[in-house]
Amino acid sequence: MQRTHRRASTCWLAYLSAILSSTASAVPEIVAAPEGLRQCVVCHGVELTGNRSVDAPNLSVLSTWYIERQLLNYKRGLRAPHGSTDDLIGREMQPMAAALDDESIVSVLAFAERVPERAALVTMMGDVARGAKLYTSCAACHGVNGEGNQSLSAPRLSGQSDWYLARQLENYQTGARGAEPGDIWGAQMRASVAMLSDEDDIDHVVSYINSLSP
Ligand code: HEC
Ligand code: HEC
Repeated sequence: MQRTHRRASTCWLAYLSAILSSTASAVPEIVAAPEGLRQCVVCHGVELTGNRSVDAPNLSVLSTWYIERQLLNYKRGLRAPHGSTDDLIGREMQPMAAALDDESIVSVLAFAERVPERAALVTMMGDVARGAKLYTSCAACHGVNGEGNQSLSAPRLSGQSDWYLARQLENYQTGARGAEPGDIWGAQMRASVAMLSDEDDIDHVVSYINSLSP
Protein backbone atom coordinates (compact mmCIF):
# COMPACT_ATOMS: atom_id res chain seq x y z
CA MET A 1 0.00 0.00 0.00
CA GLN A 2 2.68 2.38 1.08
CA ARG A 3 4.91 1.45 -1.90
CA THR A 4 2.13 2.23 -4.35
CA HIS A 5 1.55 5.54 -2.68
CA ARG A 6 5.23 6.45 -2.92
CA ARG A 7 5.35 5.46 -6.56
CA ALA A 8 2.28 7.58 -7.26
CA SER A 9 3.81 10.63 -5.63
CA THR A 10 7.08 10.10 -7.57
CA CYS A 11 5.05 10.02 -10.77
CA TRP A 12 3.26 13.19 -9.76
CA LEU A 13 6.57 14.92 -9.08
CA ALA A 14 7.96 13.84 -12.44
CA TYR A 15 4.77 15.12 -14.11
CA LEU A 16 4.97 18.44 -12.30
CA SER A 17 8.61 18.97 -13.17
CA ALA A 18 7.88 18.09 -16.82
CA ILE A 19 5.14 20.76 -16.88
CA LEU A 20 7.39 23.30 -15.21
CA SER A 21 10.27 22.71 -17.58
CA SER A 22 8.01 22.77 -20.65
CA THR A 23 6.45 26.06 -19.49
CA ALA A 24 9.89 27.49 -18.91
CA SER A 25 11.07 26.56 -22.39
CA ALA A 26 7.80 27.84 -23.97
CA VAL A 27 8.40 31.38 -22.71
CA PRO A 28 10.55 32.92 -25.44
CA GLU A 29 13.49 34.94 -24.25
CA ILE A 30 13.38 38.63 -25.01
CA VAL A 31 16.09 39.84 -27.38
CA ALA A 32 17.72 42.53 -25.26
CA ALA A 33 19.08 45.75 -26.72
CA PRO A 34 22.88 45.72 -26.84
CA GLU A 35 24.93 47.94 -24.54
CA GLY A 36 24.82 51.54 -25.73
CA LEU A 37 21.48 51.10 -27.56
CA ARG A 38 19.06 50.87 -24.64
CA GLN A 39 17.68 54.31 -25.59
CA CYS A 40 16.23 52.83 -28.79
CA VAL A 41 13.89 50.48 -26.90
CA VAL A 42 12.84 53.27 -24.52
CA CYS A 43 10.95 54.82 -27.45
CA HIS A 44 10.62 51.98 -30.00
CA GLY A 45 9.55 49.41 -27.42
CA VAL A 46 10.95 46.10 -26.25
CA GLU A 47 12.10 44.19 -29.36
CA LEU A 48 11.47 47.38 -31.39
CA THR A 49 7.75 46.77 -32.00
CA GLY A 50 6.86 50.47 -31.77
CA ASN A 51 5.14 52.74 -29.25
CA ARG A 52 2.32 55.00 -30.27
CA SER A 53 2.45 57.15 -27.14
CA VAL A 54 5.81 58.54 -28.30
CA ASP A 55 5.10 58.29 -32.08
CA ALA A 56 7.87 55.71 -32.54
CA PRO A 57 7.24 53.23 -35.39
CA ASN A 58 7.60 49.44 -35.47
CA LEU A 59 11.18 48.71 -36.55
CA SER A 60 10.86 44.92 -36.17
CA VAL A 61 9.35 44.51 -39.67
CA LEU A 62 11.91 46.68 -41.47
CA SER A 63 14.88 45.43 -43.49
CA THR A 64 18.32 46.45 -42.34
CA TRP A 65 19.16 48.23 -45.64
CA TYR A 66 16.20 50.56 -45.08
CA ILE A 67 16.93 51.17 -41.38
CA GLU A 68 20.51 52.04 -42.27
CA ARG A 69 19.46 54.47 -44.98
CA GLN A 70 16.98 56.27 -42.75
CA LEU A 71 19.53 56.61 -39.94
CA LEU A 72 21.94 58.15 -42.46
CA ASN A 73 19.14 60.38 -43.81
CA TYR A 74 18.50 61.77 -40.31
CA LYS A 75 22.22 62.15 -39.72
CA ARG A 76 22.79 64.00 -42.99
CA GLY A 77 19.72 66.16 -42.53
CA LEU A 78 17.90 64.71 -45.56
CA ARG A 79 15.09 63.77 -43.20
CA ALA A 80 13.78 66.15 -40.50
CA PRO A 81 16.62 68.60 -41.19
CA HIS A 82 18.09 70.83 -38.51
CA GLY A 83 16.42 74.16 -38.13
CA SER A 84 13.24 73.02 -39.85
CA THR A 85 10.03 73.10 -37.85
CA ASP A 86 7.97 71.21 -40.46
CA ASP A 87 8.64 67.79 -38.99
CA LEU A 88 8.92 68.14 -35.22
CA ILE A 89 8.28 64.45 -34.57
CA GLY A 90 10.97 63.48 -37.06
CA ARG A 91 13.32 65.88 -35.28
CA GLU A 92 13.13 63.63 -32.19
CA MET A 93 15.15 61.07 -34.13
CA GLN A 94 17.82 63.63 -35.13
CA PRO A 95 19.93 63.54 -31.94
CA MET A 96 19.49 59.76 -31.69
CA ALA A 97 20.86 59.19 -35.19
CA ALA A 98 23.51 61.92 -34.85
CA ALA A 99 24.97 60.12 -31.82
CA LEU A 100 25.52 56.87 -33.76
CA ASP A 101 28.98 56.26 -35.23
CA ASP A 102 29.58 53.61 -37.92
CA GLU A 103 30.18 50.90 -35.33
CA SER A 104 26.93 51.66 -33.47
CA ILE A 105 25.00 51.55 -36.74
CA VAL A 106 26.38 48.06 -37.39
CA SER A 107 25.25 47.16 -33.88
CA VAL A 108 21.73 48.60 -34.50
CA LEU A 109 21.40 46.54 -37.68
CA ALA A 110 22.53 43.34 -35.95
CA PHE A 111 19.98 43.97 -33.17
CA ALA A 112 17.18 44.70 -35.67
CA GLU A 113 18.02 41.47 -37.49
CA ARG A 114 17.73 39.45 -34.28
CA VAL A 115 14.35 40.71 -33.02
CA PRO A 116 11.30 38.72 -34.16
CA GLU A 117 9.07 40.38 -36.78
CA ARG A 118 5.78 41.40 -35.23
CA ALA A 119 2.95 43.23 -36.98
CA ALA A 120 1.69 46.34 -35.20
CA LEU A 121 -1.85 46.55 -33.81
CA VAL A 122 -4.45 47.82 -36.25
CA THR A 123 -5.92 51.20 -35.24
CA MET A 124 -7.38 52.56 -38.52
CA MET A 125 -10.64 51.52 -40.16
CA GLY A 126 -11.00 53.03 -43.61
CA ASP A 127 -12.68 51.59 -46.70
CA VAL A 128 -10.49 48.59 -47.56
CA ALA A 129 -11.99 48.08 -51.05
CA ARG A 130 -11.34 51.71 -51.97
CA GLY A 131 -7.86 51.36 -50.43
CA ALA A 132 -7.15 48.29 -52.59
CA LYS A 133 -7.82 50.35 -55.76
CA LEU A 134 -5.55 53.14 -54.55
CA TYR A 135 -2.83 50.66 -53.62
CA THR A 136 -2.44 49.27 -57.17
CA SER A 137 -0.05 52.13 -58.02
CA CYS A 138 1.90 51.65 -54.77
CA ALA A 139 2.33 47.92 -55.45
CA ALA A 140 4.64 48.67 -58.39
CA CYS A 141 7.31 49.72 -55.89
CA HIS A 142 6.27 48.33 -52.49
CA GLY A 143 5.11 44.92 -53.80
CA VAL A 144 1.59 43.43 -53.98
CA ASN A 145 1.85 42.28 -50.38
CA GLY A 146 3.55 45.43 -49.09
CA GLU A 147 6.70 43.40 -48.63
CA GLY A 148 9.02 46.11 -49.98
CA ASN A 149 11.58 45.97 -52.78
CA GLN A 150 15.23 46.67 -52.10
CA SER A 151 16.13 47.10 -55.76
CA LEU A 152 13.72 50.09 -55.85
CA SER A 153 14.66 51.24 -52.31
CA ALA A 154 10.99 50.89 -51.32
CA PRO A 155 10.53 49.75 -47.71
CA ARG A 156 8.20 47.12 -46.35
CA LEU A 157 4.82 48.61 -45.37
CA SER A 158 2.86 45.57 -44.15
CA GLY A 159 2.92 45.15 -40.38
CA GLN A 160 4.07 48.76 -39.89
CA SER A 161 2.18 50.90 -37.34
CA ASP A 162 -0.77 52.32 -39.33
CA TRP A 163 -0.77 55.72 -37.54
CA TYR A 164 2.90 56.06 -38.51
CA LEU A 165 2.26 55.22 -42.20
CA ALA A 166 -0.56 57.78 -42.30
CA ARG A 167 1.65 60.47 -40.76
CA GLN A 168 4.47 59.78 -43.23
CA LEU A 169 2.07 60.03 -46.19
CA GLU A 170 0.94 63.43 -44.86
CA ASN A 171 4.60 64.42 -44.43
CA TYR A 172 5.35 63.59 -48.07
CA GLN A 173 2.25 65.52 -49.12
CA THR A 174 3.20 68.68 -47.21
CA GLY A 175 6.89 68.33 -48.08
CA ALA A 176 7.92 67.85 -44.43
CA ARG A 177 9.61 64.69 -45.74
CA GLY A 178 11.16 64.13 -49.14
CA ALA A 179 11.65 67.77 -50.15
CA GLU A 180 15.32 68.22 -49.20
CA PRO A 181 17.64 68.50 -52.21
CA GLY A 182 19.45 65.18 -52.58
CA ASP A 183 16.68 63.04 -51.08
CA ILE A 184 16.03 61.16 -54.30
CA TRP A 185 13.94 58.37 -52.74
CA GLY A 186 11.85 60.80 -50.74
CA ALA A 187 11.24 62.78 -53.93
CA GLN A 188 9.82 59.64 -55.58
CA MET A 189 7.37 59.26 -52.71
CA ARG A 190 6.40 62.92 -52.96
CA ALA A 191 5.42 62.30 -56.57
CA SER A 192 3.56 59.09 -55.63
CA VAL A 193 1.36 60.60 -52.90
CA ALA A 194 -0.09 63.15 -55.32
CA MET A 195 -2.69 60.55 -56.28
CA LEU A 196 -4.04 60.38 -52.72
CA SER A 197 -6.06 63.49 -53.40
CA ASP A 198 -9.34 62.91 -51.55
CA GLU A 199 -9.43 63.75 -47.89
CA ASP A 200 -9.85 60.15 -46.69
CA ASP A 201 -7.61 58.45 -49.27
CA ILE A 202 -4.78 58.06 -46.74
CA ASP A 203 -7.13 56.28 -44.31
CA HIS A 204 -8.34 53.95 -47.06
CA VAL A 205 -4.95 53.01 -48.47
CA VAL A 206 -3.45 52.47 -45.01
CA SER A 207 -6.44 50.31 -44.00
CA TYR A 208 -5.79 48.19 -47.08
CA ILE A 209 -2.09 47.91 -46.16
CA ASN A 210 -3.27 46.68 -42.73
CA SER A 211 -4.93 43.74 -44.48
CA LEU A 212 -1.70 42.62 -46.20
CA SER A 213 0.68 40.01 -44.85
CA PRO A 214 3.79 39.15 -46.83
C1 HEC B 1 12.88 59.91 -28.05
C2 HEC B 1 12.30 58.74 -28.67
C3 HEC B 1 13.16 57.96 -29.66
C4 HEC B 1 14.36 57.34 -29.42
C5 HEC B 1 15.16 57.31 -28.13
C6 HEC B 1 14.71 56.66 -30.66
N1 HEC B 1 13.75 56.88 -31.62
FE1 HEC B 1 13.78 56.22 -33.53
N2 HEC B 1 12.06 57.22 -33.93
C7 HEC B 1 11.35 57.98 -33.00
C8 HEC B 1 10.24 58.64 -33.67
C9 HEC B 1 9.23 59.56 -33.00
C10 HEC B 1 10.31 58.25 -35.03
C11 HEC B 1 9.41 58.72 -36.16
C12 HEC B 1 10.09 59.96 -36.71
C13 HEC B 1 9.53 60.50 -37.97
O1 HEC B 1 8.32 60.63 -38.10
O2 HEC B 1 10.36 60.81 -38.85
C14 HEC B 1 11.48 57.38 -35.15
C15 HEC B 1 11.89 56.81 -36.37
C16 HEC B 1 12.95 55.94 -36.49
C17 HEC B 1 13.36 55.30 -37.72
C18 HEC B 1 12.72 55.47 -39.08
C19 HEC B 1 11.77 54.32 -39.35
C20 HEC B 1 11.13 54.36 -40.71
O3 HEC B 1 10.23 53.56 -40.95
O4 HEC B 1 11.52 55.17 -41.55
C21 HEC B 1 14.43 54.50 -37.41
C22 HEC B 1 15.21 53.61 -38.38
C23 HEC B 1 14.70 54.65 -36.00
N3 HEC B 1 13.79 55.53 -35.46
C24 HEC B 1 15.71 53.99 -35.31
C25 HEC B 1 16.08 54.28 -33.99
C26 HEC B 1 17.25 53.74 -33.35
C27 HEC B 1 18.21 52.75 -33.98
C28 HEC B 1 17.31 54.29 -32.09
C29 HEC B 1 18.39 54.13 -31.03
C30 HEC B 1 19.71 54.55 -31.43
C31 HEC B 1 16.16 55.18 -31.96
N4 HEC B 1 15.44 55.14 -33.13
C32 HEC B 1 15.87 55.92 -30.84
C33 HEC B 1 11.63 58.10 -31.66
C34 HEC B 1 12.79 57.67 -31.03
C1 HEC C 1 8.17 54.88 -57.56
C2 HEC C 1 8.18 53.92 -56.45
C3 HEC C 1 7.17 54.16 -55.34
C4 HEC C 1 5.79 54.26 -55.43
C5 HEC C 1 4.92 54.18 -56.67
C6 HEC C 1 5.32 54.39 -54.06
N1 HEC C 1 6.37 54.39 -53.19
FE1 HEC C 1 6.26 54.60 -51.15
N2 HEC C 1 8.27 54.65 -51.02
C7 HEC C 1 9.14 54.51 -52.09
C8 HEC C 1 10.50 54.74 -51.65
C9 HEC C 1 11.75 54.69 -52.52
C10 HEC C 1 10.40 55.05 -50.27
C11 HEC C 1 11.55 55.45 -49.31
C12 HEC C 1 11.54 56.97 -49.30
C13 HEC C 1 12.42 57.64 -48.31
O1 HEC C 1 13.56 57.23 -48.13
O2 HEC C 1 11.93 58.64 -47.70
C14 HEC C 1 9.00 54.97 -49.90
C15 HEC C 1 8.50 55.20 -48.64
C16 HEC C 1 7.17 55.08 -48.29
C17 HEC C 1 6.64 55.26 -46.95
C18 HEC C 1 7.44 55.58 -45.70
C19 HEC C 1 7.65 54.29 -44.93
C20 HEC C 1 8.46 54.43 -43.68
O3 HEC C 1 8.77 53.38 -43.08
O4 HEC C 1 8.79 55.54 -43.27
C21 HEC C 1 5.29 55.05 -47.03
C22 HEC C 1 4.29 55.12 -45.89
C23 HEC C 1 4.98 54.74 -48.41
N3 HEC C 1 6.14 54.78 -49.14
C24 HEC C 1 3.71 54.43 -48.88
C25 HEC C 1 3.36 54.41 -50.23
C26 HEC C 1 2.00 54.38 -50.73
C27 HEC C 1 0.76 54.28 -49.86
C28 HEC C 1 2.08 54.44 -52.09
C29 HEC C 1 0.95 54.51 -53.08
C30 HEC C 1 0.07 55.64 -52.94
C31 HEC C 1 3.49 54.48 -52.43
N4 HEC C 1 4.24 54.47 -51.28
C32 HEC C 1 3.99 54.52 -53.72
C33 HEC C 1 8.81 54.20 -53.40
C34 HEC C 1 7.52 54.25 -53.92
